[in-house]
Amino acid sequence: MALYAIGDLHLGLSVNKPMDVFGPGWDRHVERLRDAFMKLHDDDLTVLCGDTSWGIDFVESLQDFRLIDSFPGRKLLVKGNHDYWWNTAAKMQRFFAENGITTIDILHNNCHTYGDYALCGTRGWFYEEDQKPHNEKVLKREVGRLEASLQLAGGRPILAFLHYPPLYEGYRCGEILEKLEAYHVAQCCYGHLHGYTHRRAIQGRYGTVDYSLVSADYLRFVPKKICD
Ligand SMILES: [Fe+2]
Ligand SMILES: [Fe+2]
Repeated sequence: MALYAIGDLHLGLSVNKPMDVFGPGWDRHVERLRDAFMKLHDDDLTVLCGDTSWGIDFVESLQDFRLIDSFPGRKLLVKGNHDYWWNTAAKMQRFFAENGITTIDILHNNCHTYGDYALCGTRGWFYEEDQKPHNEKVLKREVGRLEASLQLAGGRPILAFLHYPPLYEGYRCGEILEKLEAYHVAQCCYGHLHGYTHRRAIQGRYGTVDYSLVSADYLRFVPKKICD
């Protein structure tokens, strides 16, 4: 039994989406993901840190979720900026149930557990979002979602999973970092960074939290083991 994390599977089995926009290294990415996931076990849990499917709705993303469901173990989904198929928790759960998808659940406005750990998460915030309208409102909403998730940890040690990096070379999202530290988060995994931007990622201990980049191309499409 082990806990894994990987983000940005960017599956598009029902849509034609060339992946070279994210830089070299995406060749055969679905096959490479499949090979790595098939080595996991039924009692493992993998957190998928956003940008899971290119599908714009449930119809377009169904094949991607069928593939993920065929992999061993449970999977928890965090929302990414490209997850246009995302919907209310009730609708997503109904979509999974109606399609016989039994190993996928949502990590959003809630908290799950793994052994003694609480698993918390939300999409997060990145400076790219500053360019968009209503950014202050959306930032506040994301911080609120993160805090709601952290509050549900109930005294357990916390592992946090975000899509957006809360820190990056030349950038800090103070509001998110503050919450991670206030709730004594031990480790924070994030995705979103692709290609040449990997080299600007900040990893390891910063403040009181240990950060890891887990975007799929950075991990060469092999889920990162977080703990046993
Ligand atoms: Fe991505
Ligand atoms: Fe992203």
